[in-house]
Amino acid sequence: MPKPRATPPTKEPPQNGTTSSPLLLNPVLAEQGAYPLLRLDERRRELEERGIELFDFGTGDPREPTDAKIRQALTDGVPKVSRYPSTPGKRELREAFCGWMRRRHGVALDPEGEVLPATGSKEAIFHAPLAFVHHSHERRGVAYGTPGYPVYERGALFAGGEALPVGLGEENGFLLPAEAVDAEKTRILWINYPHNPTGATATYGYLERVAQFCQEHDVLLFSDECYNDLYSGEPPPSILEITTVRTLAFCSLSKRSGMTGYRSAMMAGDPELIAALKKLRPSIGVATQSFVQDAATAAWSDDVHVEGRRRAFGEKRRLFTEFFARAGLEHLPTDASFYLWVAVPEAFSGDDEAYALRLMEEGIIVAPGRSFGAGGEGYVRVALVPGVEECRRAVGLWEALVR
Ligand SMILES: Cc1ncc(COP(=O)(O)O)c(C=O)c1O
Repeated sequence: MPKPRATPPTKEPPQNGTTSSPLLLNPVLAEQGAYPLLRLDERRRELEERGIELFDFGTGDPREPTDAKIRQALTDGVPKVSRYPSTPGKRELREAFCGWMRRRHGVALDPEGEVLPATGSKEAIFHAPLAFVHHSHERRGVAYGTPGYPVYERGALFAGGEALPVGLGEENGFLLPAEAVDAEKTRILWINYPHNPTGATATYGYLERVAQFCQEHDVLLFSDECYNDLYSGEPPPSILEITTVRTLAFCSLSKRSGMTGYRSAMMAGDPELIAALKKLRPSIGVATQSFVQDAATAAWSDDVHVEGRRRAFGEKRRLFTEFFARAGLEHLPTDASFYLWVAVPEAFSGDDEAYALRLMEEGIIVAPGRSFGAGGEGYVRVALVPGVEECRRAVGLWEALVR
C-alpha cells in the first residue's frame, strides 16, 4: 500500500519572496569586490545617458572587424543537426593551431597530446588551477604579477589555492622577478607577456630565466600569451620556444584575430598537463561550439589578416606615443599588445582615479591603474581600441587639456 501523502505544511509562506536565513555564499565570492572593469563600464553608462560623446580607451575590446574568411567559416559551420562538442574539439582545429605555432614560434607540437581548445583564454585561465591545486595541498600557492589581469587570482582562490601576488614595477620593466616568488609555497606561476595592463614585453633571455627557476623549484609555469601576435617590432617569443616541460602556453584568438565575441583559445605544452586538463574539462561544460571551432580553424590557418591588425594598432600606438612625447607624459615604451601605460602627471599627485575622471570629462575614458591591482596606482592604461580617426580626435582633446 502506498503511504498516504503528508499533509502540506500549514506554515505561512515567507512574504515578498524572502527567506528567513541569509544566503550563504562561497566566501571567495562574498569577499570579491566589483570586477574592476565593470565599475568603469557603469561610469561610462552614466555619461552616455547624459549624451556625452565618449572615446573609450578603457576596455580591451577592439572594434576592427573580424576578417570575412573567419566570419564565413563560422556561418558555413552551423550544422543542421546540432550535437554536443567534445573537449578535445576537432582535429582540424588542433592541426591549424599547431601549424601557426610552427610558423610563428618554430615549435612543433603534437595535435593529439599537446594542445587543447578553450572557450576563450579567460575560462581556461580561471579553470586551470582546478586540475592542479587543492585546499588540502600543503603547497597550493598560485603566483602572478600585480598589477595584472585579475583572473589568475580568482582562479587560484576558487580552486582552494593561495593567491601569491608578486609586485611588478618600473625598476624591473614590469617583468615578474622570479626571485621574488616564494618557491616553497608556489605550485603554479603565471606570467603574461606582452603584458596587460602595461604592454611590457619579455625577451627570450627573461623567459629562459623564469623557466629555469620553475624547473629548479618544481613549479608549473603557465604563460598567458594572449597578446603575442600584436607587435610592431620584434615578434615576442613564446615560452614554448624554451620548454614544454611542466609548462603551458595560453594562446587566444580574441586579440590576434579580433574574435573576442567568438570565445576561442588554445592551451598548449606539456602532454601530462594537457592530459590532466582533458580529464578535468568535461566536468565543466566548456567544450567549444563546432561552428566556432570552424571559424577558429580559419583564423589560425591565416596570418594575412593579422598583419592588417598589427598595422592598425601600430599606427594608433604611434599617434599616442608621439603625443605623449610632445606633452611630456611619461609612459612605458612598448611595441606590442595594444596597451599604453601612462604615468599620472604630477599635477594630479599620482592619483590615477582623479586623472581618469578628469580625462572622462573631456570624453576620454582610460582605466585607472589601481583597477589592475596593487602597484597600478599612479598610472592609467590606454587601450588602443577606438579606430584611428577616433584616436586622432581623442589625442586632440587630451592635448588641449594638457595645454
Ligand atoms: C592578459 C589577458 N589574458 C587573457 C584574457 C582573456 O582573453 P580571452 O578570454 O578573450 O581569450 C585577457 C582579456 O582581456 C587578457 O587581457
